[in-house]
Amino acid sequence: MAANPLEKVYDSSLKFLASLSSEEIYRTICHESMKLVDGDIASILLMENRRFKRAYSTSSILGQIKPRRKGNTYSVYKSKRPKILNVAKMGNIHPELIKERIKSDIIVPLIYKNKSIGILTVQSKQKLFIPRDARILLLISPLASLAIRKAQLTDELSKALKARDLFISMASHELKTPITTVYTYMQLIKIKASKKEPLNIDWIDNLLNEMVRLYKLIDELLHVNQIKTGKLKYNWEEIDINDILKKSVSGILTRYKDRKIVFQNNLNNENPTIIGDFEKLIEVFLNLLDNAAKYSDPESVIILETIIEKKYLVIAVRDEGQGISESDLPQIFDDFYKGENNIKSGLGLGLFIIKKIVNEHKGKISVKSEVGKGTTIHVKLPIYNYNARH
Ligand SMILES: Nc1ncnc2c1ncn2[C@@H]1O[C@H](COP(=O)(O)OP(=O)(O)OP(=O)(O)O)[C@@H](O)[C@H]1O
Ligand SMILES: [Mg+2]
Repeated sequence: MAANPLEKVYDSSLKFLASLSSEEIYRTICHESMKLVDGDIASILLMENRRFKRAYSTSSILGQIKPRRKGNTYSVYKSKRPKILNVAKMGNIHPELIKERIKSDIIVPLIYKNKSIGILTVQSKQKLFIPRDARILLLISPLASLAIRKAQLTDELSKALKARDLFISMASHELKTPITTVYTYMQLIKIKASKKEPLNIDWIDNLLNEMVRLYKLIDELLHVNQIKTGKLKYNWEEIDINDILKKSVSGILTRYKDRKIVFQNNLNNENPTIIGDFEKLIEVFLNLLDNAAKYSDPESVIILETIIEKKYLVIAVRDEGQGISESDLPQIFDDFYKGENNIKSGLGLGLFIIKKIVNEHKGKISVKSEVGKGTTIHVKLPIYNYNARH
C-alpha cells in the first residue's frame, strides 16, 4: 500500500536527523523535498552576515543565482511565509529560470527557534505547484531547520577544537624555546658562580632577551583574552606622539641592538596631540617595529615616518624585508595567523592586537607590501589638538 503524505513527510524528516556532515544534510533535505512535491531542482540558501549564501543546490546553473535584495527569497525569509511562483507568468524574474524552462517555484522559510535562518526552494519544469505542495514542505521545514542548525553547530565546534589544538601546540612551542635558553644559561652561570669565575655579560644579555620574549608572549595572551571578553581597559589621556615613538624605538633597540631605525618627522613645527592610551600605543609601535625587524635583513634600514593627513596623524613603519604574499595579506590581522611559510618565532597575535587597539582609538591601520621589496604599515590616528612649537 502506498504511504500517505504524512507518512512520507515523517520518513523524509527522519533522514535529516541522522548523524551527517552539513553537506550531506543539505543534500538529503534537497532530495527529500524534491521527492515529496515532485520537483526537479532544490536549493538551500542560508543567511550569513545579512546576506544569502547558497549552501547547496542540485543544479549547478541555478546554484549561481544571487537573490535580489527585494526579491521573493528575501520576502519569504522576512515574512516567514511560503510563496508559490508561477515562473512562466512572471516578467521580473531571473533569466536563468526561464532558460532552464522552470515552470513553477516554491520558496519555504527555514525557521529555528522562531527565527528565520534561510529558505528552501524547490522548482519544477513540468507542473505548477499548488498550496498543498507548500504545506507539505512547511511540514518538513522545522526538522530540516533543526538538522541544519545542528550541523552548523557541529562545524563550529570542530573549528573551535581545531583552533584550540593549534593554539596549544603553538603556545607550548613558543614558550619552550625561551625557557630552554634560560635553563641553559642558568646552568652555565651556576657552574661559573660555583667556581667564583667571572660571568660573561653576554649571557646575562641573552637571558634578559629571552625574558623579554617570554614577557611579550604572556602579555599577548593576556591581551587577546581581554580583547575577546571585552575586558581590555583603556586609560585615555592627551598624548604627544613623539613620546610614544621615542619609547617604542628605544624598546626595540634593546631587543635588536644594532638595527638602524631612521626617523623621518614631517610634522614641521606643528605638534599634534592625540587622545590615547600611552602604554597601548607603545605596544602598537613596538609590535610594528618588532615585525619590521623580525622580517627583514639585519643590515637593512627601518623607517619610521610621521605625516599629517587632514584630520589624522599618520605614522608609517616601513621595512625593506621579505614582504607579505598576496595569499597571506587578507589574513594577517586574524588572531593566531602566521604567514604560510613563516618559521620565525611568534604566536601570530601582534597585528590582531594592534588592529583592535587602533580601532579603539578611532584610527585606521592599512598595509602595503611587495614580496622581496618590503612592507609599510600605516597607522592613522585622529588629531586632538596642536601644540605648535615655535
Ligand atoms: N613587516 C612584515 N614583513 C613581512 N611579513 C610580515 C610583516 N608583518 C607581519 N608579517 C606577516 O604577518 C603575520 C602576522 O603578523 P603578527 O605580527 O600578527 O604575528 P607574528 O609576528 O607572527 O607573531 P607575534 O607578533 O604574535 O609575535 C606574520 O606571521 C608574518 O607572516
Ligand atoms: Mg608580530
